Amino acid sequence: MCGIVAAVADRNIVPILLEGLRKLEYRGYDSAGLALINEQGVQRLRAVGRVAELAAQVDDSQAAGNTGIAHTRWATHGVPSERNAHPHISGGLAVVHNGIIENHEALRARLKADGYEFTSDTDTEVIAHLIAHELKTTDDFFAAVRASIAQLQGAYAIAVLREADPSRIFVAREGSPLLLGLSDSGNYAASDASALLQVTRRMVYLENGDCAELTRDGYRITRVDGTPVVRAESESQLSADAVELGQYRHYMQKEIFEQPVALSNTLEMLGTARSVQPGLLGADAEALLADVRQVLIIACGTSYHAGLVARYWLEAQAGISCSVEVASEYRYRDSVPDPQTLVVTISQSGETADTLAALHHAKSLGMTRTLAVCNVPESSLVRETALRFITRAGPEIGVASTKAFTTQLAALYLLTLVLAKLRGRLSPEQEVAELQALRHLPVAVGKVLELEPQIKAWSERFAMKQHALFLGRGRHYPIALEGALKLKEISYIHAEAYPAGELKHGPLALVDKEMPVIAVAPNDALIEKLKSNLQEVRARGGELYVFADADSEMSESDGVHVLHLPEHYGALSALLHVVPLQLLAYHVALVRGTDVDKPRNLAKSVTVE
Ligand code: M6R
Repeated sequence: MCGIVAAVADRNIVPILLEGLRKLEYRGYDSAGLALINEQGVQRLRAVGRVAELAAQVDDSQAAGNTGIAHTRWATHGVPSERNAHPHISGGLAVVHNGIIENHEALRARLKADGYEFTSDTDTEVIAHLIAHELKTTDDFFAAVRASIAQLQGAYAIAVLREADPSRIFVAREGSPLLLGLSDSGNYAASDASALLQVTRRMVYLENGDCAELTRDGYRITRVDGTPVVRAESESQLSADAVELGQYRHYMQKEIFEQPVALSNTLEMLGTARSVQPGLLGADAEALLADVRQVLIIACGTSYHAGLVARYWLEAQAGISCSVEVASEYRYRDSVPDPQTLVVTISQSGETADTLAALHHAKSLGMTRTLAVCNVPESSLVRETALRFITRAGPEIGVASTKAFTTQLAALYLLTLVLAKLRGRLSPEQEVAELQALRHLPVAVGKVLELEPQIKAWSERFAMKQHALFLGRGRHYPIALEGALKLKEISYIHAEAYPAGELKHGPLALVDKEMPVIAVAPNDALIEKLKSNLQEVRARGGELYVFADADSEMSESDGVHVLHLPEHYGALSALLHVVPLQLLAYHVALVRGTDVDKPRNLAKSVTVE
């Protein structure tokens, strides 16, 4: 999604803006631009494509300045093109924006009637003209920005500069993320901390409804009505190295191979404990969870799949009823709220617009026992829930989520154990055994990663296919869903997942020798049922690729390829079985030559509805 970087400092800030944009590239974008104040007034440069193309324009034009704003755009209103790229300009001021202005059509009509000319198809351009219009009745730039955003409906993070105020930048946020970076030689703003680590670790996270003025020497924050507010400063713990590619070719590859470390960091807080404490989820956890009657999980994409796996655990092991909802559906659905529900939101980024809106919706229905399972401690989601479990996967840059998923699963398993214990369904012996199994996960995942050469060999055959079918049963059905999502999003092969028992109710009609069928087949209680389903596939000529485990008792035969994961892992086997599917998607994408880390049309952090 769109990314913003803004800077006002005592030196040329163009290299800082460009480096900041590079750090935000992972979010997904299709064009980039910047605006500076210098002797030319407001100088604007824009390019379709990569930040590198914008950087080439900077080199050609020798653009420089001490005050500037920059942007990567992920098209929502209007095609990716130079005229739609940000910044947008009106009357000597320039604006960049992340989000969607829902009432842009009404505002556009009004501004056109007032004589403003539009040069783009974006919703953002109305913001530039609105501020220019407000400045006709006031000299106070900050007041004009606030009066303008008071008229906006929807989600936004914006940064604005103006020729007549060459040493100030204004920023504001509602719904889309934005933070300030503070230093002795200048002040900054950006969509996420990674863009600013090059200049500072001192961060201030803006809240929804906050506006801020930045100068070289300081900053002030107010609400939209001008009331001053103070927001806490924090020291970012993000490691600059963590967002470097290092020895790897792609971030996705790096992140797949980081899973043992990500899991071990996520589980580190367990130490050598022989029991699992509710306090893992926050100081108030025991009180909040004591009389919870059901669990409602809300998430999108891969995080939703983690929720689907957790439902099996929660119902089987903690004996608590659990529903899992796609956030964009839940938020608009008439549902039956129960205040004794634990609402669990799962998100890598903690900024996914639909997940945040679904959380707000659940709270508005009186469900205040909320928990975030999230990878970004400073995110909006974490700040808005009563309880939190921070996965410690480290920054995930590849659009295809991998290490975030396995660490989410580890967190959700801990939640299951906490609830099982509070509900008297976990004996001390079981508790010790469960914790041991969790602690062994990094090693077990490491061994699965050693299967890469065989998976790579399989990927050569997949690369020529147009479609693929993924099958699983029980808690491995969501793993099949996740495998299909990984394959489709980075290799563009059409992939679907089904619970294997559903095959004969329709999808079997698709099976022929051109259809590779991937089966997630650990030796669980449903293995014999699954084997029968696979026979149905083989009888129709479908080629089978089976991810079994050490105990599955499946062997290769004509048209049946079997790969045995080294260990059988009981309830936690979902965490292991997703790993070869991630590797398969990665290697198929490599063979097909797609842009693995930035697949077409997708963004890392989906901050618009
Ligand atoms: O940051 P989140 O976990 O809330 O993101 C949710 C989805 O957008 C995300 O998982 C998406 O489906 C990934 N591209 C999947 O690989």
